[in-house]
Amino acid sequence: MRICLFFLAAGALLAQHSYTPSDVQDGGKLFRSNCVECHGVDGNLVSGIDLAHGKFRRASTDEELISVIRNGIPGTPMPPGNFTEFQAGTIVAYLRSLASVGSGSGIAGDPAQGKVLFEGTGKCLTCHRVGSTGSRLGPDLTAIGSQRRPAMLEKSILDPNAEILPQNRFYRVVTSDGKTVTGRLLNRDTFSVQLLDSNERIRSFMIANLREHGFVDKSPMPSYANKLTPQQVADVVAYLETLKGIAAQ
Ligand code: HEC
Ligand code: HEC
Repeated sequence: MRICLFFLAAGALLAQHSYTPSDVQDGGKLFRSNCVECHGVDGNLVSGIDLAHGKFRRASTDEELISVIRNGIPGTPMPPGNFTEFQAGTIVAYLRSLASVGSGSGIAGDPAQGKVLFEGTGKCLTCHRVGSTGSRLGPDLTAIGSQRRPAMLEKSILDPNAEILPQNRFYRVVTSDGKTVTGRLLNRDTFSVQLLDSNERIRSFMIANLREHGFVDKSPMPSYANKLTPQQVADVVAYLETLKGIAAQ
């Protein structure tokens, strides 16, 4: 009996403390493929529930959250999930990481400085578009301020690989003569693939002529963790927050 209790306690400790950064990323993947249809990327689409802020109504400890994720909430649309305790734990670790990024920097950003950086030394427009300026290679950021929370924006800038939405993944083809082209996937059918390449040219390939083709898991966006100061990151995030879909100039 005592031994059992010991193992239970050890299990509980493990559940709380032993997630590596890559486990947390896996948790993010599980979250994006199983939860966002109802909860949204930012965890706030179900009214009254905010998964990304570490404040829960029905559960507070990691164990309680794991149990909600595995068993669902009977009598509500929250379904039981077919996850191991460890998998559910990685999702919880991921949700906790979202909450901690939000309070992480705590620096007030200056949107005007952020805009200067975004358009100037940050070179963000070489891949992104805001209103009618910039490139179409990366996601259009014209309305990003109404789509993502500051914590997610900060994370996209510091750690682009942690959060790649399915529609934002890049596609890579290798032609039969060995040329590699990577870009945004515009269209793919049984016979052909169309990409927007890094020069914003539309390229079309017959699948029969390709040596390989498929999605790229790594983000083409560089991390700015060592390029921008925390203040500069806060400024850029503050600027992105002002982008609500109205064409900015
Ligand atoms: C079919 C829609 C749906 C899916 C899919 C879904 N949820 Fe939920 N979830 C809900 C709803 C609705 C509630 C609110 C239930 C209530 O309390 O009325 C909820 C509640 C929760 C709660 C409790 C929140 C609190 O404040 O206590 C957690 C945690 C949660 N969901 C996590 C997840 C995770 C993680 C996933 C993916 C593994 C997921 N949900 C998938 C609809 C869904
Ligand atoms: C080399 C091209 C490139 C540069 C330069 C670049 N990005 Fe990105 N960015 C991308 C791509 C591609 C994605 C989509 C894949 C991903 O999420 O990482 C992306 C994603 C993002 C997202 C997430 C979008 C979403 O829908 O959630 C934000 C926010 C962002 N970038 C902001 C910036 C900012 C701010 C800068 C400048 C400091 C910048 N990017 C510079 C290519 C780039």
